[in-house]
Amino acid sequence: MKRALYHRARLNAIASASHLMINGAAGAVMILDLTRLPILETERLRLEPLLASDADQLFPIMGDPEVMAYWDVAEIDDPDIVAEIVGSQVRGMQAGRSVYWAMRRLADDAFLGSCDLSDVDRWHRRAEVGFMLGREAWGQGYALEAMQTVVAFAGANGIRKLVARTHLGNRRSEALLTKLGFAEEGLLRGHVLRDGERRDCRLYGLLL
Ligand SMILES: CC(C)(COP(=O)(O)OP(=O)(O)OC[C@H]1O[C@@H](n2cnc3c(N)ncnc32)[C@H](O)[C@@H]1OP(=O)(O)O)[C@@H](O)C(=O)NCCC(=O)NCCS
Repeated sequence: MKRALYHRARLNAIASASHLMINGAAGAVMILDLTRLPILETERLRLEPLLASDADQLFPIMGDPEVMAYWDVAEIDDPDIVAEIVGSQVRGMQAGRSVYWAMRRLADDAFLGSCDLSDVDRWHRRAEVGFMLGREAWGQGYALEAMQTVVAFAGANGIRKLVARTHLGNRRSEALLTKLGFAEEGLLRGHVLRDGERRDCRLYGLLL
């Protein structure tokens, strides 16, 4: 038992090393190398790695009850808490565990929201996707455009499985994930404790 635990801990340590090289038949493959954080561009958007200073622009978005209706925590009315969240996202990127992008409109540089690849598991070549737009940016296909590029980026960098988790009732997210090719994989009962109640979540997955 002890030996199995040791083995598991060792594998986890190897798998979470941020720049793991995996030797395949075709030679060494670098899985999602985040030494240099990627800037992605789409027809209408530029996705730039999130900076601590972006917290100011995320604050009104995370303070909107409608945006946060299906998030794990309720709307946030304290800018320091948003700064802490963004700070931990920036640290996660520095550690090679994730990449969070600020979504900016090319036409006017407006900050529309953020999207991410998180929980990167290089051993299993797997990551989780996330996305959040300010309400005025909904209904224009921006999230779809950004996430199509994020999914392509993940695939081009060796990720073979993407997962996403939605709260029941998040119709817009479910529609977006379906358009991206994700399929529903299961129901996570009482997965989240929000406002004193347990909420069910849906798990979505996409094999690349
Ligand atoms: C989830 C979220 C990012 C989806 O945003 P969205 O704008 O609905 O998603 P899309 O980019 O796919 O846009 C789809 C809409 O744009 C419309 N659209 C307009 N122009 C378009 C274009 N050029 N291409 C595609 N769709 C376009 C579509 O018809 C659709 O409109 P509809 O919803 O009225 O049918 C957004 O609702 C959000 O930020 N929610 C709060 C945070 C959240 O819950 N995040 C997810 C947690 S799992």
